[in-house]
Amino acid sequence: MSPTAYDVDAVRADFPILSQSWNGRPLVFLDTGASAQKPRAVIDAMTRMMENDYANVHRGSYWLSERSTAVYEGARDTVARFLNAASSDEIVFTLNGTDAINLVANTWGRTNVGPDRAILISEMEHHANIVPWQMLRDATGARLLVCPILDDGSLDMEAYARLLQDNPVALVAITQTSNVLGTVTPAAEIVRLAHEAGARVLLDGCQGIVHGPVDLQALDVDFYVFSAHKLYGPTGLGVLFGKSELLEAMPPWRGGGDMIETVTFEHTTWARPPARFEAGTPAIVEAAGLTAAIEYINALGPDAIRAHESALLAYATEALGEIEGLVLYGRAPEKSAVLSFTIDGIHAHDLGMLLGESGVCVRVGHHCAMPLLKRLGVTATTRASLGCYTNTADIDALVVALKKARSLLL
Ligand code: ALA
Repeated sequence: MSPTAYDVDAVRADFPILSQSWNGRPLVFLDTGASAQKPRAVIDAMTRMMENDYANVHRGSYWLSERSTAVYEGARDTVARFLNAASSDEIVFTLNGTDAINLVANTWGRTNVGPDRAILISEMEHHANIVPWQMLRDATGARLLVCPILDDGSLDMEAYARLLQDNPVALVAITQTSNVLGTVTPAAEIVRLAHEAGARVLLDGCQGIVHGPVDLQALDVDFYVFSAHKLYGPTGLGVLFGKSELLEAMPPWRGGGDMIETVTFEHTTWARPPARFEAGTPAIVEAAGLTAAIEYINALGPDAIRAHESALLAYATEALGEIEGLVLYGRAPEKSAVLSFTIDGIHAHDLGMLLGESGVCVRVGHHCAMPLLKRLGVTATTRASLGCYTNTADIDALVVALKKARSLLL
């Protein structure tokens, strides 16, 4: 599929923010990996919720609360269908993807991991999939193992199999797609080998879910997390999927209203999942926004989005190849639309500033993946991350701005 076969102009028209200019130039938004822009459908759904359907959920017996609860629980059903989970009860709403990983570390982790067990992560993890496991290691005496990557940014699957064979791994926690390299990890193979070794698997889907369809039952993964804001939805809402039998056996993490069955001063009994893990008033309006975001993506088609982004990735990779001194990090055969690079002699922060002045928004720095950058031998890169609304004009503008920055800085 060529980048033009997908009606990207129509998609762009759905995102009000993209009609802006900066310094007389059109906004070129290439930081979707950090947080995606929102289509009108999401903005309208959240406004509609606040104008028509809003009350607290699960608490009121009056009609408006029932309506609000239906919207909130409807979001859970929509997410379950989108991920092909076996049941909506396997979907827990959290604050974001990071919060979802912390929830697993502090509940499943605290009850299933000890000094004689290990957590296996990879060298390309985001800090959100490193730090909670370090904290668990420090609290329980468990070991934290790191699977290396190959020079092209692929996961070293031979090392992965060896680590599973040689160690008592309780949990594999690995990204589905690297936020720096774009590497798509072989999720099905990761899960299969882990299960053979008796380990559970958590997939960090924050960057994966946005680039194509996900089928959790086919993957047979135990835990899956993502953030709504990266999926063209609102901030303040994340998703934890957990297999029913695992969630049922997990103790709660945060205590408060809505997560209980009965409370006395002496003793409290827990509600069943997912309510057990949703203490306090949840992100009600945001849930309405997430439903709209998923409906929007389904209407475009996750496969069509993936094809569009893959064609753009090829276009961008070739275009960046024209820039003298540019080094691209991440050339795995399975790669999503993320391009991290350095330019010889130019600091990423200077580059980011000059690109910004040209109206081109990219992320620069360590991308919350300091151990990975150390492995790559750099302290910072510039990252362009693409989304369903990115077009070839965005890439062309990036290339022009990079050439200009290069001529100013070198
Ligand atoms: N995890 C987000 C990123 O990669 C914030 O930029």
